[in-house]
Amino acid sequence: MDNFAFYAPTYFAFGKDAEAQTGTLVKRFGGTKVLIHYGGGSVVRSGLLGRVKASLEAEGIDYVELGGVKPNPRSGLVYEGIDLCRREGVDFVLAVGGGSTIDSSKAIAAGVVYEGDFWDFYSGKLIEKALPVGTILTIAAAGSEGSPDSVITHENGMYKRGATGDAIRPRFSVLNPALTQTLPPYQTACGITDILAHLYERYLTNTREVEVTDRMIEALMLTMIHEGPRVIENPDNYEARANIMWAGMMAHNNSCGVGRSQDWNSHNVEHELSALYDCAHGAGLAVTMPAVFTYVMHHDVMRFAQVATRVWGCQMDFAHPEVTAKAGIEALRAFLTGLGMPRTLGELGGKEEDIPKLVDVLCNGNGRQGAISGFVTLNETDCAAIYRMML
Ligand code: NZQ
Ligand code: ZN
Repeated sequence: MDNFAFYAPTYFAFGKDAEAQTGTLVKRFGGTKVLIHYGGGSVVRSGLLGRVKASLEAEGIDYVELGGVKPNPRSGLVYEGIDLCRREGVDFVLAVGGGSTIDSSKAIAAGVVYEGDFWDFYSGKLIEKALPVGTILTIAAAGSEGSPDSVITHENGMYKRGATGDAIRPRFSVLNPALTQTLPPYQTACGITDILAHLYERYLTNTREVEVTDRMIEALMLTMIHEGPRVIENPDNYEARANIMWAGMMAHNNSCGVGRSQDWNSHNVEHELSALYDCAHGAGLAVTMPAVFTYVMHHDVMRFAQVATRVWGCQMDFAHPEVTAKAGIEALRAFLTGLGMPRTLGELGGKEEDIPKLVDVLCNGNGRQGAISGFVTLNETDCAAIYRMML
């Protein structure tokens, strides 16, 4: 196991009606003037936004609001939010929504207290200072409610890039599984796919002897495999929603990723798809993961065979471990398509002639030098082959 430091001090309020605690929590974490940030309107329609405002008002906390975050959040609204916070003297950013809203909130929180362009953080600069952020989560997916990360797309070039820093880890996150019952099945399935991807990206490691985190990841994968179909069949299943919501947080606050090298190449390859085609991140991952895994499988066949046997119930073929490894990847693909996820680039709106552009932005855009690194380093030829496997 590698050396590590782990500091994840988010306060979680989990369960039915937990959003009623919002005002108290903002106060507890020092907020006096809040920016309420939200997306395209689901929180208005569900009545959640009204309940959140009432909770702030009950504590005498002043607020301004900024809606309109799109899935795959854009830089334009971040700049707008930074200006608004500065004008209004905001000292706390409250995200009400999914990963996109949370990531946009984190970007605003970091940008307000930074003199330069907030995009510096999305070009490699560590976020060391930010306004405090709180979240009220409405979809189990990105894990941003417990992570120190944010992903934004810059409209100038459509680069989708991540930033990180403990300063943007939410001070608190409200997780009420009932809030996810209004999700359409497709979005629920996208969330499940993203959670599985966060687990795979950590499972694919070059570090040896990491049994504790291997086993934690496997437990969370098995939970998703059990609960995923149940929630697609019955969207009102509170208990299944609850297990998925907590698994989504555990999958990405890095408690099961510490002490080991991680992959993240499926995410890198996918981010260009959601940037170019504006598809849901989870849908992009459903297409990306089987292709990337098949391409890199021979780097460590036994690791893929291990997940195939321990998680997907495949029979170990000791004479031909690559057969077992491949069966595990196919089981993952079948599980995802069974949830209603796509399997080809075409289903995401992509075409073969887009591949050179996708590869160029992926491998050379925004300061990259001809390759992406992870479980295996992938150069332009590798990435082109991977995108072709998705056709
Ligand atoms: O915008 P509204 O109207 O709220 O609708 C949203 C949106 O259309 C809808 N929705 C959310 N909760 C709902 C609901 N509809 C009905 N009922 C509810 N309860 O769902 C749609 C998707 O929302 P979005 O926030 O985009 O989903 P998600 O949480 O999957 O976030 C995706 C973004 O997170 C990034 C992705 O790249 C993508 O941009 N990621 C962020 C990470 C992080 N910060 O740590 C890690 C992830 O790997 C990921 O890359
Ligand atoms: Zn993800």
